[in-house]
Amino acid sequence: MAERRTAAASSGSPAGAADRSPGKPDRRTARPEVLSVWATAQRTGPVQRRGRYVPESTAHPARMLPAIAAHAIAAYTQPGDLVLDPMCGIGTTLVEAVHAGRDALGIEYESRWSDIADANLRHARGQGAPGRGGVIRGDATALLSLVPAALARQVALVVTSPPYGPTVHGHVAVGDELDIRDNRYNDGTDKGNLAYRDLTGLTDGFADILRGCATLLRPGGIVVVTARPWRKRGELVDLPSAVIGAGVRAGLVPTERCVALLAAVRDGQLIARPSFFQLHSVRKARASGTPMHLIAHEDVLIFTKLTPDDGSPAPHGPSGRR
Ligand SMILES: C[S@@+](CC[C@H](N)C(=O)[O-])C[C@H]1O[C@@H](n2cnc3c(N)ncnc32)[C@H](O)[C@@H]1O
Repeated sequence: MAERRTAAASSGSPAGAADRSPGKPDRRTARPEVLSVWATAQRTGPVQRRGRYVPESTAHPARMLPAIAAHAIAAYTQPGDLVLDPMCGIGTTLVEAVHAGRDALGIEYESRWSDIADANLRHARGQGAPGRGGVIRGDATALLSLVPAALARQVALVVTSPPYGPTVHGHVAVGDELDIRDNRYNDGTDKGNLAYRDLTGLTDGFADILRGCATLLRPGGIVVVTARPWRKRGELVDLPSAVIGAGVRAGLVPTERCVALLAAVRDGQLIARPSFFQLHSVRKARASGTPMHLIAHEDVLIFTKLTPDDGSPAPHGPSGRR
């Protein structure tokens, strides 16, 4: 876990603070792909997606920032590798993979989102993306029943994020006018969608998905999961820790814990990019004496599939590509 942390600012420090400390790498020469703090929101989400994703994509309540997927793909794979997202939503991982010359396969439970992922892949192909991509609509807790058996041990990288609880599914876009939409995954009764299970049900389902991923991964293959905690009636729901537990139960080895910034870095300071709801709830909490802060990052939890020969994770990433 230490290997790629050497050039990193800690998650609690303002990004760039490392540059001012004696003995730390110079920001001008450090390679961004070896930092454990990923500067993934230098441009806003809408700017990252503009022209690259079909407009319907904005309806999804929990899209990954394209720069997070792109960073993971650049850091852990090479052109021609196969990238998998077993909960692909509108296909962010897939689109970034095919643009980077990787092949990509996504699974999505809701046809509403898998249709948009398909449209995003067609759009990427029309823009000249060199990789091949495909989407399967189905329940990824039964991953191995959905994908061809020939894909076992072929996947280089899994990039995914579990769905969050229904309480965080509201969506407000501040454009020319305020637009508040009901964009829940489904009506909440279908527990096949992990978003509608409690934390235990969600992590059990996610462990099943990771077990399937472990079979599809090649030895030394990598799993990158983004997750963030949320609050329920004031209590912190620690999804990142639950994700680590699910990965371990699936037989994967946690090898790194990184931070993907949701805030921009400008002159060594973090500039938050909160949604309307986040700003409103933090202001309300602070007014009532709860010292809440705006969320400025997602946890990035990274696992490795053991190599069969020595029982240890294979070298990976920029310093150890196979
Ligand atoms: C956090 S979102 C992923 C968003 C995606 N990274 C993107 O950028 O569009 C999680 C997705 O998992 C899907 N999902 C939930 N349960 C699932 C299951 N059992 N099998 C496959 N997908 C599932 C949800 O419908 C949702 O689209």
